[in-house]
Amino acid sequence: MSDNSDPVNTPLANIPLAGVLGWPVAHSRSPRLHGHWLKRYGIAGHYVPLPVRPEHLAEALRSLPKLGFVGVNVTIPHKEAVLALADVVTDRAALIGAANTLILRTDGKIHADNTDGYGFIANLRQNAPNWRPDSGPAAVIGAGGAARAVVASLLDAGVPEVRIANRTRIRAEQIRSEFGARVVVYDWGQAANMLEGIATVVNATSLGMEGKGALRVPLDALSPGTLATDLVYTPLDTPFLIEARRRGCQTVDGLGMLLHQAAPGFERWFGQRPEVDDQLRAVVLA
Ligand code: ATR
Repeated sequence: MSDNSDPVNTPLANIPLAGVLGWPVAHSRSPRLHGHWLKRYGIAGHYVPLPVRPEHLAEALRSLPKLGFVGVNVTIPHKEAVLALADVVTDRAALIGAANTLILRTDGKIHADNTDGYGFIANLRQNAPNWRPDSGPAAVIGAGGAARAVVASLLDAGVPEVRIANRTRIRAEQIRSEFGARVVVYDWGQAANMLEGIATVVNATSLGMEGKGALRVPLDALSPGTLATDLVYTPLDTPFLIEARRRGCQTVDGLGMLLHQAAPGFERWFGQRPEVDDQLRAVVLA
């Protein structure tokens, strides 16, 4: 190859880059997760943390394709703001009101998707293969951004009814008005009552996380065999999951949701469907 060859066509210029946009972003486990897959599949690519202040988000996004980025994950506080900056927003991202995965297309357009709900369901399918979404109502505790993704995915999976209780009731009411009549809102003080006769229960609040308060919803009404899952994964085994298991429920921890939500982005950017397995769990937990 001669020295004046087009630099765009040199192998180095073709190494795809991806990353996670957040502020702050140092705590993110995504670089370790994607880094493991890149190594495992022998892909010449890089995945880096991208600390970007909210006021620089638009400018940073516009620059990424010029720097060789093929896509990014988006985390707090940018998940809602990127919707207004994207050229194409998937229906599920629009419904959830947030995006966590961007594809920077070769035509320069930004495609925004939300894979949190996909990750949530894929985690249950992998770790509770006997779980049937249509076997009964589901109860979701919480109505924040993560809860919206969970509710959308449960409805999509065929759950007949989704009951929601949230400290700030209006956020649950908002989900009901946007997601439709299969959503039923319970008062926060009545959250224990919504657990009667359900097949699935999800803690989608941050309660139970290390350093946060305890989830105080009594679980007496849970029947054995109900599937209980928590979006909190620090600790992996939350007091909510321990109590649910004591009552005979099947439990699935929240780490798998983080792992599975990453897979569609990795596949789109790097052309390889990655596997979520125990080795990946160990790497992310290390
Ligand atoms: P995320 O994107 O992780 O869902 P979020 O949108 O801030 O984050 O939502 C956090 C969820 O945890 C909300 O349901 C929140 O309840 P509010 O809507 O009332 O804020 C819930 N949450 C956090 N701290 C709580 C607490 N001390 N008691 C009850 N609910 C709490």
